[in-house]
Amino acid sequence: MLLVILIFTTYQLTVTAQHNLTPYGTATQSSNFEESLPQNAIEPPISNTFSKTLCSHTDRGSEPAWWMFHFSFGLAYITDINIYYRENFAVRMDGFKVYVTNTSTIPPNGHLCHEDGPGLPITTQTIPCNQLGQYVIYYDTKGSVQDGKSFGPIIELCYVAINGCPKGTWGRNCIKKCPSKCINQHCHLKNGSCVWGRHRQLIKPLMVRFLQVILRVSQITKHTSAASVCYFYLFLYDDLSDERECKNSSS
Ligand SMILES: *[C@@H]1O[C@H](CO)[C@@H](O)[C@H](O)[C@H]1NC(C)=O
Ligand SMILES: *[C@@H]1O[C@H](CO)[C@@H](O)[C@H](O)[C@H]1NC(C)=O
Repeated sequence: MLLVILIFTTYQLTVTAQHNLTPYGTATQSSNFEESLPQNAIEPPISNTFSKTLCSHTDRGSEPAWWMFHFSFGLAYITDINIYYRENFAVRMDGFKVYVTNTSTIPPNGHLCHEDGPGLPITTQTIPCNQLGQYVIYYDTKGSVQDGKSFGPIIELCYVAINGCPKGTWGRNCIKKCPSKCINQHCHLKNGSCVWGRHRQLIKPLMVRFLQVILRVSQITKHTSAASVCYFYLFLYDDLSDERECKNSSS
């Protein structure tokens, strides 16, 4: 029964760890076409249906074209980005790039999460990124030809969600703090395990001495195994989160 509850909880955690960060920051773009402002892209509906008041739209002649989101709280760990582009306008989306950066520089200077390949893109996309940054930039330098007319790059985003957590947090709605033992307090959003490894820190020497005695006694009385020595070691280093390692050593 406990196992069932555990599996269920883990499952729930995995599913709900997605957290859209667009309520915490501001959207801007290279130019505005009429009332198609950049923030239209971060407001519902979650849809590809175009209307000037529901989607963002950069003006013609803005070369390159870009749409940018800046987090107000500083660094975010971004797992992925959902994009709903204007329906039937894949020809304008063609050649787009998505970056995560720490500056608002154009052309973007940071991590390229995705670059559109050959052929027309699908107008609904989920772009994995797994990067720390302060900005998300949708970038386009490629123009299009429609009905024999040439256009420069144009960006029309009907909905964008940026999923992740503010750096140093994890879990459902990012309410848990990453363990301080994680290097730079950076952890995976779904399970809280350290991304860049851990600081190994010994607990108090007196406590260590006491535990050594217990271990020695259990060795003498032969109540010990590779696994329990492993658990002992992890306990010393205040690191029981990695007990899977011990399960492996006992098999
Ligand atoms: C942004 O800055 C953080 C902290 O210095 C760094 O860890 C991260 O890799 C940077 N992100 C990018 C995309 O350069
Ligand atoms: C935690 O999640 C990350 C990313 O999904 C994964 O690589 C890692 O193995 C997970 N760690 C544990 C202890 O499950």
